[in-house]
Amino acid sequence: MPTDHINHNNHLTAEWVKQFRPYAKEGKCASYIPALAEKDPNQLAISIIGTNNDEMKAGETTELFTLQSVSKVVTFILACMERGLPYVLERVDVEPTGDTFNSIIRLESHQPGKPFNPMINAGAITVSSMLDGNSPQEKVSKILQFLEQIVGKELKVNEEVYQSEWQTANRNRSLAYYLMDSGFLDCPVEEALEVYLKQCAIEVNVSDLAMIGLVIANDGYHPLLNKQLFPKQVAKLAKALMVTCGMYNASGKFAAFIGLPAKSGVSGAILVAVPSHAGLDSPFPAGCGIGIYGPAIDTIGNSVAGVNLLKHIATEWNMNIF
Ligand code: DON
Repeated sequence: MPTDHINHNNHLTAEWVKQFRPYAKEGKCASYIPALAEKDPNQLAISIIGTNNDEMKAGETTELFTLQSVSKVVTFILACMERGLPYVLERVDVEPTGDTFNSIIRLESHQPGKPFNPMINAGAITVSSMLDGNSPQEKVSKILQFLEQIVGKELKVNEEVYQSEWQTANRNRSLAYYLMDSGFLDCPVEEALEVYLKQCAIEVNVSDLAMIGLVIANDGYHPLLNKQLFPKQVAKLAKALMVTCGMYNASGKFAAFIGLPAKSGVSGAILVAVPSHAGLDSPFPAGCGIGIYGPAIDTIGNSVAGVNLLKHIATEWNMNIF
């Protein structure tokens, strides 16, 4: 792609960030995790990375934030690689719930109490419990190594965010005890929770997020390393889960009006995987990954400015996968 094209579009992303930043006023930083409540709600950043490493970015692109629920896609992929699909799918289903992300209701109302999908907390805690490693630290190290290979740099867990979550994790603790009781936890409750809350507290910036999205968009193939990092079948499943369950109980509307595989987190992060056929009318015809950060979230848990920005881009570039 000619350089002036990318420059033009960089200017475009800066314009878009300016245009959509005011939407942050309609949301609030997550308040149930004290360390997230102190973030600047007006921040908005985006990175879009294509298969030849072309990057368009704008806003607070160096700002670090925690993955939160975006990590659920990563651990799901890792668990499938380590345990194989049949093992994982025996313990967590792939059905959307329409409930809030930390809901406990279906663990009892449906029997057996198998979590509905890996994108809600119950399913994600089950997935974290089945990761390889003899201790929470070993499991977390594996997650970090896997992510570091994708983003090409060292990552770490934000201890302050982890600690503040650990101390307020009553709901997650309840979910984990319930899962343990019904046989859907592979390790002790406190260990599964430590892994789950530490994976949520891994820090990234929007470019890291875009890079993760790019590899998922490319069916597990890392175009810059020229390496297949995880099986195509697992990437396809991850994308289907992102479409059906990635934006929590707003996933239906997101699929209907934006139409891209995406996963949000309460930090205001959104990970998006744009497959090649959806990128044809954009400056990224071979597909791309998009990372967005806008910490003011709506009551469901999705970044308000981020979702509006994404909707605009998907419309402008005709990116709807459907
Ligand atoms: O389990 C929690 O409460 C958080 N650590 C992660 C939840 C999250 O990001 C849900 N998001 N919308």
